[in-house]
Amino acid sequence: MDTDSNTPGWFIAGDGAIGMALGCLLQQQGASVRLISRVAKPTPAMMSCRFTGGETVEWTCPVMSEPDGTSIDRLIVATKAYAVSDVMDRWGSSLAPGARVFFLQNGLNLDSDRQPPPSTQPLIVVNSGFAAFRDEPNHVVQTAGEAVWVGDGSARSEASDPNVRNDIACLDAAGFHVRWTPDIIARRWLKIAVNSVINPLTVIHDCVNGMLLEQPEAVRMIRDLCDESGRILAAMEVSFSAEEIHSETLRVIEATAPNRSSMLQDHRRGDGRHELDYINLPLIRMGTAHGIEVEEHQLVYDRARRMLATCEPAGGQSPA
Ligand SMILES: NC(=O)c1ccc[n+]([C@@H]2O[C@H](COP(=O)([O-])OP(=O)(O)OC[C@H]3O[C@@H](n4cnc5c(N)ncnc54)[C@H](OP(=O)(O)O)[C@@H]3O)[C@@H](O)[C@H]2O)c1
Repeated sequence: MDTDSNTPGWFIAGDGAIGMALGCLLQQQGASVRLISRVAKPTPAMMSCRFTGGETVEWTCPVMSEPDGTSIDRLIVATKAYAVSDVMDRWGSSLAPGARVFFLQNGLNLDSDRQPPPSTQPLIVVNSGFAAFRDEPNHVVQTAGEAVWVGDGSARSEASDPNVRNDIACLDAAGFHVRWTPDIIARRWLKIAVNSVINPLTVIHDCVNGMLLEQPEAVRMIRDLCDESGRILAAMEVSFSAEEIHSETLRVIEATAPNRSSMLQDHRRGDGRHELDYINLPLIRMGTAHGIEVEEHQLVYDRARRMLATCEPAGGQSPA
């Protein structure tokens, strides 16, 4: 496993909560890290992270917003789903042949034609275990550090490329506990099904996650949405039942009870950017494509969309 700065470094697109926390962890492990921001910023940036153990780490890191000719061997995309196309447009041509590109987004863009170049290796990370939030522009607080899943969509029981295995070992050693799975596509759908309940309902009810279980209307909607998701996933031959989706949804709500969901944070930020079309819309579209009734999901989508639209700039946003 490489941990020193002589090996090609880690580029992390997205200097937000997850990007900063991951960058700090990797750098502490001895890896070379560069953060990629959306807009030009002073470099190096001075940042701090408070980890779940209570330790606060001050760190500095080069930040770039435009390619400078450096060839990228490993890229972590830690932006929101709506920014992935922009990252690929700007950085895709800097990726070296064989580069590993880790996508950490909640949700999915069914329309995307902006994939990383075919010569690279896209890796899907389903993050149900590592959580962080920004409480100041350059300060993040990690709130969970459990295992997360990674895979390439193949049924292989481990990554075939030793570079990918090495990357996973580096991330794990740093504290981002990545586990390879041949079931990444099913796990992503499970995560989408869970998020498609918690995220919009916290916007609709304007509450932290745990309070959903204190509101009878929300409790009924959770049950109905999970049942509908179970029928959609069954039609797609994804192996998670309505009961499993429901119990995972309740587990996540209880484990994250005091947290504001990312969609509620997006709503409160009020700049019109959110992940509803990447979390709820894919389920609705897959259900419709398979002839499954999606009434509950459509109702929740429409309701949350109207609320999120109140903070959207003219023209709204669409998955691009
Ligand atoms: N935070 C968590 O605990 C958690 C847990 C599980 C999954 N996730 C998922 O992980 C992803 C990242 O979440 P997050 O909480 O880290 O989001 P975040 O705090 O909003 O950070 C995203 C960062 O990406 C930057 N960005 C936007 N467009 C960019 C571009 N074109 N190039 C480079 N950077 C760009 C944003 O900068 P600007 O603000 O300047 O636009 C922001 O700093 C999301 O899909 C989220 O749903 C998060």
